[in-house]
Amino acid sequence: MPSFEPVLLARIAKPNSAKLETYRADGGYKALEKALGMPPADVTNMVKDSVLRGRGGAGFPAGLKWTFLPKDHPGPIYLCVNADESEPGTFNNRILMELDPHQLIEGIAIACHAIKSEKAFLYLRYEYGRSYRVLDAAIKECYAAGLLGKNILGKEFNLDIVLHRGAAAYICGEETGLIESLEGKRAWPRIKPPFPAIEGLFRKPTIVNNVETLCCVTHILNRGSEWFKSIGVPPDPNNPRDMGSYGPKLYCISGHVNKPGCVELPLGVTARELIDEHAGGVWKGRKAKAVVPGGISMGFLSADELDTPLDFNGPGKAGCLGLGTAAVVVVDDQTSMVDVLYNCCRFMSHESCGQCTPCREGTAWMTKILERIRAGHGKMEDLDTLTEVAGSMGIIPGTTICGLSDGAAWPVKNAIKKFRGDFEEYIASGRRSVTSAQELMAG
Ligand code: NAI
Ligand code: SF4
Repeated sequence: MPSFEPVLLARIAKPNSAKLETYRADGGYKALEKALGMPPADVTNMVKDSVLRGRGGAGFPAGLKWTFLPKDHPGPIYLCVNADESEPGTFNNRILMELDPHQLIEGIAIACHAIKSEKAFLYLRYEYGRSYRVLDAAIKECYAAGLLGKNILGKEFNLDIVLHRGAAAYICGEETGLIESLEGKRAWPRIKPPFPAIEGLFRKPTIVNNVETLCCVTHILNRGSEWFKSIGVPPDPNNPRDMGSYGPKLYCISGHVNKPGCVELPLGVTARELIDEHAGGVWKGRKAKAVVPGGISMGFLSADELDTPLDFNGPGKAGCLGLGTAAVVVVDDQTSMVDVLYNCCRFMSHESCGQCTPCREGTAWMTKILERIRAGHGKMEDLDTLTEVAGSMGIIPGTTICGLSDGAAWPVKNAIKKFRGDFEEYIASGRRSVTSAQELMAG
C-alpha cells in the first residue's frame, strides 16, 4: 500500500498536542467556524455525502443517522459521545482523547450544530483515568476561550459538554445501556425500536456517535466530503447495497506480534499488511494461526484468510461478523483455539447484563463447557452442543435485546467451524490447560 499521510493521528506526536493553544496554532476550530456559517442541514448533508460510517463497530452511516431525528422537534435534542471503549483489543479512542482532545471537541460541536443540540454528554470508560483528566482540562480551556458555553465564536450557538465517567462494564457501551447508565440506572439495554434518534436520553431524541466518528467529522468539514471519499474503498459495483468504506481508520494491533500499537491507514488494508508491515510480523518467528479482525465478537480469520481487506465488507465475506472496531488481535500457531475461545466466552459471560435468558444462560454454559474441555474432561459431542447453544442466541434469531449475545455466539460458531481440528485434538489428547492464577492455586 502506498504511504499514507495520517489525518486523525497527524498531531499526536507534537509537543503539547492536547493544549488548545497548539491546536489553534495548527488551524484548530476553523472547521467549527466554517460549520457555524452553514445551515445545520447543510452540515448534515456534507457528512451524509461523505458516507462516513460509524467507527464504533456497527458502521452505520453517521450523516444518515442524524437525519432520523424528528423534524422541527422543540428540543432538547442530545448528543451522546460513546467513549466507553471496552471491546477487547480496542484502544483507538483512548489515543484520540488523550493526545488530541480538541479534535474530538471540535467534532462534537460541529455535530451538535448539525443536529441542533445544545447539550452533549461524553460518556467515558471509567478505567480511562488519564483520558478523563485530559478531556476535563480541554473542556475547561474551551469554556474559558468562548468555544463552549453561550454564543460560541460570536454566533447564535450554545453548547455545554458534560463529561461523565462510566460504570466500568462492557454493556455501558451499548448505546441504550449507555443512555440508561447516564440516567442513573443500571445499564440494561432497551428494546429497539424506538431507536435513540427518536427516543433516547431522558426520552428525548438522541444521537449516539463514537469518538473516532466525531473526529472524522472535523476533517470532513475542513476538507470536504469528496476528499474523504478519495480515501478508502469505493462501493462494490456488483453489490447495489454496498455504500463503500471511505476515509481513514485507526487499526489497533495486539496479541502475538512484535510491535503492537495503533496505526492510521485508509480503510481496506489487509490483515497481512497490518501484521507484516505495521506490527513487525508475528512474534518469535512464528506464523499466525488466527486473526481477530475487529474485536473478539467479530470471530476469526484463519491463516489462509489474511489477505482479507479490513474494510466494512471484507471480514463479512470471510465469515466474520464484520469489521467491528478494527481491533486486530493476532494468535500465533503455538496457541490452542480452545484457550482463545475460552477467554472470549469467559469475558462475554461476565459482561452479559443478564436480562435475556439465551444470552445469560448461553454465555455461562458455553464457558462451562469450555472449562470442562480445558480441564481434560471434554467429549467430542461438546463441539456440537457449543454450536447448538451459540445458534440459539442473538438478535438475528430474535431472542435477545442487544448485540452482545450475537457477539458472544459468533466467535464460538466461527472457531469451531474454522478450527475444529484444534478442538478435536485437544479433547482426544485429554490435555489440560492451566492459565489463570486462580486455577494454578486450585490445581
Ligand atoms: P446497530 O447496527 O444496532 O446500530 C448502529 C447505529 O445505527 C445505532 O446508533 C442505532 O441507533 C442506529 N440505527 C440503526 N438502525 C436504525 C434505524 N432504523 N433508525 C434509527 N437509528 C438506527 O449496532 P449497535 O448495537 O449500536 O453496535 C454494535 C457494534 O458495536 C458491534 O458491531 C461491535 O463491533 C461494536 N462494539 C464496540 C465496542 C467498542 O469498544 N467500541 C464495544 C462493544 C461493541
Ligand atoms: Fe443483556 Fe445479553 Fe440481553 Fe444484551 S443480549 S440485553 S447483554 S442479556
